[in-house]
Amino acid sequence: MKLSERISVARGEAPAAAAVAPAASAAPAGAPAAPRQSAVTALPSISAASPASPAAGAAHATAAAAVPHSSQSSDALSGLKQRVGETLFERMGARVNDPNLGEGDLLASARDILAEIVESERVPLSSEERQRLVKEIGDDVLGYGPLQPLLEDPAVTEIMVNGPDSIFIERKGRLTLSGARFRSEDHLRQVIEKIVTRVGRRIDESSPLVDARLEDGSRVNAVIPPLAVNGSSLTIRKFAADPLKASDLVAFGSISPEMAELLDACVKAHLNIIVSGGTGTGKTTLLNVLSSFIPAGERIITIEDAVELQLQQDHVVRLESRPANIEGKGEITIRDLLKNSLRMRPDRIVVGECRSGEALDMLQAMNTGHDGSLSTVHANSPRDAVSRLETLVLMAGMDLPLRAIREQISSAVDVIVQLTRLRDGTRRVTHVTEVHGMEGEIVTLQDVFVFDYAAGVDADGRFLGKPRPTGVRPRFTDRFDDLGITLSPRVFEVEGSRTWNP
Ligand SMILES: Nc1ncnc2c1ncn2[C@@H]1O[C@H](COP(=O)(O)OP(=O)(O)O)[C@@H](O)[C@H]1O
Ligand SMILES: [Mg+2]
Repeated sequence: MKLSERISVARGEAPAAAAVAPAASAAPAGAPAAPRQSAVTALPSISAASPASPAAGAAHATAAAAVPHSSQSSDALSGLKQRVGETLFERMGARVNDPNLGEGDLLASARDILAEIVESERVPLSSEERQRLVKEIGDDVLGYGPLQPLLEDPAVTEIMVNGPDSIFIERKGRLTLSGARFRSEDHLRQVIEKIVTRVGRRIDESSPLVDARLEDGSRVNAVIPPLAVNGSSLTIRKFAADPLKASDLVAFGSISPEMAELLDACVKAHLNIIVSGGTGTGKTTLLNVLSSFIPAGERIITIEDAVELQLQQDHVVRLESRPANIEGKGEITIRDLLKNSLRMRPDRIVVGECRSGEALDMLQAMNTGHDGSLSTVHANSPRDAVSRLETLVLMAGMDLPLRAIREQISSAVDVIVQLTRLRDGTRRVTHVTEVHGMEGEIVTLQDVFVFDYAAGVDADGRFLGKPRPTGVRPRFTDRFDDLGITLSPRVFEVEGSRTWNP
């Protein structure tokens, strides 16, 4: 969305501006006409409105505690914000539509002008306080209010809003209650509206659940009352500007260097790989890492519900499914995209997540010349991943006998990589498992790596173990030999075995 539109959406907060900004006309009634007060009273309310502001010093915290959060002072603040927003728009003038200015430059100059306006309001503030005021007004007018600092903080990976007073964040895999809060349920709803209207969706009583995406790719889910009982709820999975790489996963202990070497060889040898794990265990991240092992020059088609994968190769076609519109028409499913992708001459198909009947089409593609395909399923063990795939294939509605489905799975899938989020918050690959074949009615699996839980935990509860080779040399290594891919001997070497088998 252009800055000009953003500002008009932001201006929609003020009832007077509603006519100029029809997109925001659905917004809940904004701030009541604010009594023109001395801006001094606005200061304590700023601290009170967002005690989490990083710049908030001890002095302000005390001020916030001492001055009750009166509706009068919040009126003064919203009055000030409204005035500043209006003035900003006037001053930006023609610049907003200047095609030579990039979005980043525009935002920067908007913030400069904002600083000037606040300066001219002659508020008696220290320079640090003034900066904070400019930042908060900027966040409210141009950004997402109290969420903005959290969105800008690269250490925060997930933001969960459970009503206006409770914003949880995830940092380094750990959840904590952040000090940030919205002024009111209305304020929260305004921010939700802003997010949702920017991607051309709407949220109201008739469609109270919405998925959206921020400009940077972060995924957003919003639920409003009456479905969300204790206030509107918002979940933001932040888009990693710099996605984790294989070396990061090794550094975190999620995979071992030997495992990385093996997985790299599996991808290069065109094995079909399924990443399995629960929600937030790092499936998409690992899928991205696996995809990075695909050699340049192969034509890759990625198919996702919401684009998350960030492939570095040149020859990539990215497809995204689409939900039905308000009249219930125009839905394009992952399955539709998958069928279509087969006509696009892919060398590799990467399906972000198999959650329905597309599993059947994917297995068929894997079995009919599109080997080297990658996907993820939601399951808690490699065995569970197989039964999950069975269930998903049944969802395709083809009425296939179970045995036929299992045969499809066993001949299509070569490797299952299992991710688990351990009690200590770390995400680890707990299994690398070869799909062997069928024995009677059963798909046979053979673990190549398993996580060593027996190593126990340290004083802080962190797991000391790492993924260890079982010593079994998987059959698919024959393919490596045919293709001239060599692995270092240490990959399958069980620690300590040297002494016994010199
Ligand atoms: N191995 C890892 N170690 C630490 N954090 C990780 C790891 N893998 C993923 N993450 C982080 O966990 C979050 C969820 O990852 P994601 O791959 O989207 O999970 P999933 O697809 O399983 O839901 C992201 O914020 C991501 O950056
Ligand atoms: Mg995912």
